[in-house]
Amino acid sequence: MRARIAGMPKAELHMHLEGSIEADLMFRLARRNKVALKWGSEDEVRAAYRFANLQEFLDMYYAGLTVLLTEADFFDMTWAYLEKVQQENVLHTEVFISPQAHTRRGVAFEAMFNGIENALRQGQTKFGMTYGIILGLQRQWSEDEAMKMLDQACSVRDRVVGIGLGGPELPNPPARFVNVFDRARAEGWKTVAHAGEEGPASYVADTVDLLKVDRIDHGVRCAEDPRLVARLASLRIPLTVCPLSNVELKVFPNLAAHNLKTLLHAGVAVTINSDDPSYFGGYMNENFSATQEALDLTAAEVYTIARNGFEAAFLPEDVKAQYVGALDRYREG
Ligand code: ADE
Ligand code: ZN
Repeated sequence: MRARIAGMPKAELHMHLEGSIEADLMFRLARRNKVALKWGSEDEVRAAYRFANLQEFLDMYYAGLTVLLTEADFFDMTWAYLEKVQQENVLHTEVFISPQAHTRRGVAFEAMFNGIENALRQGQTKFGMTYGIILGLQRQWSEDEAMKMLDQACSVRDRVVGIGLGGPELPNPPARFVNVFDRARAEGWKTVAHAGEEGPASYVADTVDLLKVDRIDHGVRCAEDPRLVARLASLRIPLTVCPLSNVELKVFPNLAAHNLKTLLHAGVAVTINSDDPSYFGGYMNENFSATQEALDLTAAEVYTIARNGFEAAFLPEDVKAQYVGALDRYREG
């Protein structure tokens, strides 16, 4: 099954580019930019990949991304991710960036955005991989600040597919961001938000009802409210689930305890994604294979999850149909 999964066409819908900086790249960029890191070596960075909760991870994530200063740094980070996942047969990827984590440090929005977009364009030319860029607002900061980020996003309006919401879920409920999500929809963007990762099921419900998102990132704690699970299924609101991340951040004690299969059987459109692959021990193939093994997913279940990924993507219907066709041919071949 590992080989079948490795060769299978896939879409990734939930990954943070800043969470794909491997230890060697972190040190290369730190040397290039003369940035001091709190870890003395690549091995020390890898040894620090142990998190009791989301906040401990976010502390490391924000420390690691300080090596990014120039357009070339953002290009190199994005390119390293693309080279990795094109070998894993990821045909389409929708990447998050956290602009506030950079502009607050004095990095120009344009340098960040252009570096990332140039790499994605080059990846499309070289590998044929399609992409979308999602700007992830940070929920620990104010809605006013998020609004200012939307002002900047308007300067690249058609080059951004969606607006998201990440950062520490507790104690930052979705209700704090109603105005900014209303505006994002009015500007014509798709919207997504992290919910039900460390926050309770009510945060997932409020994210649907108040923020009116097109997809929920994580969302796994919806299971604490069976009526909400039924609603997510009937509304076909996809969940971008990140199994290895959920175990590393103690949302579940181990992969065998993950509820992805239960949600799938309840009719929820679950997808599999990597979240922050350099920190959580795997990219798309490892997330799919480790989950398949731990939950004993059948080949049909694995294909359904992969198909959900293409169908939940922010792509025109005809392009989605082509990708689903490629997946069906792979399945039959
Ligand atoms: N930013 C990067 N990874 C995240 C996660 N798993 N949850 C919330 N914000 C994040
Ligand atoms: Zn995430």
